[in-house]
Amino acid sequence: MTEADTTSCTARRCEFFVLLYRKLVAKLTLMDTLYQIVYTSTATRPFSKADLGELLQGSVQRHTRAGITGLLLYQTGTFIQALEGEKAALTELFEKISHDPRHHHTIRLIQGPIKERNFPNSAMAFRDLHSPDLGKLPGYSEFLNTPLNGELLAKDIPACKRLLLVFKKNIR
Ligand SMILES: Cc1cc2nc3c(=O)[nH]c(=O)nc-3n(C[C@H](O)[C@H](O)[C@H](O)COP(=O)(O)O)c2cc1C
Repeated sequence: MTEADTTSCTARRCEFFVLLYRKLVAKLTLMDTLYQIVYTSTATRPFSKADLGELLQGSVQRHTRAGITGLLLYQTGTFIQALEGEKAALTELFEKISHDPRHHHTIRLIQGPIKERNFPNSAMAFRDLHSPDLGKLPGYSEFLNTPLNGELLAKDIPACKRLLLVFKKNIR
């Protein structure tokens, strides 16, 4: 091996370690960031109670392992989901969710860092918005008889935040 070969080999090794270091720093930075994603989507076929139960059971198990919390709302084929956790874990999860063939027309409504969790005690809280019990929820009357519609929600982020606030206050 010539001297030039040795120098180029050392330079490549240095580059590799610098890259590794940068990746580690980037990962640690993401790990510290508490993040939320709220999105709406449309089921490709109606979800039965059993389908929803299965979805929730799997989600709770995965979220408990990954430190993710959140809320899933469902109304005749429309989902609204709020997810919160470390940015890296959430980005990876959302990537999976958005490619799930059981739903489509995924629209991100709210996304960004948060100071604290809205659903700290729920690996995945769930409400079926058709349930008659919801009529009794303080603050929910604004949404009674309002069909959930992803595109309308995307145009009215304040209404979406108000809707989440109703559940934030009522899910412990
Ligand atoms: C509307 C909807 C919401 C979902 N929400 C979650 C969720 O909050 N957490 C989760 O782990 N999986 C969720 N899933 C399921 C994921 O898309 C995926 O199937 C699951 O993470 C398992 O992926 P894996 O088999 O690649 O590990 C959801 C699926 C749908 C259709």
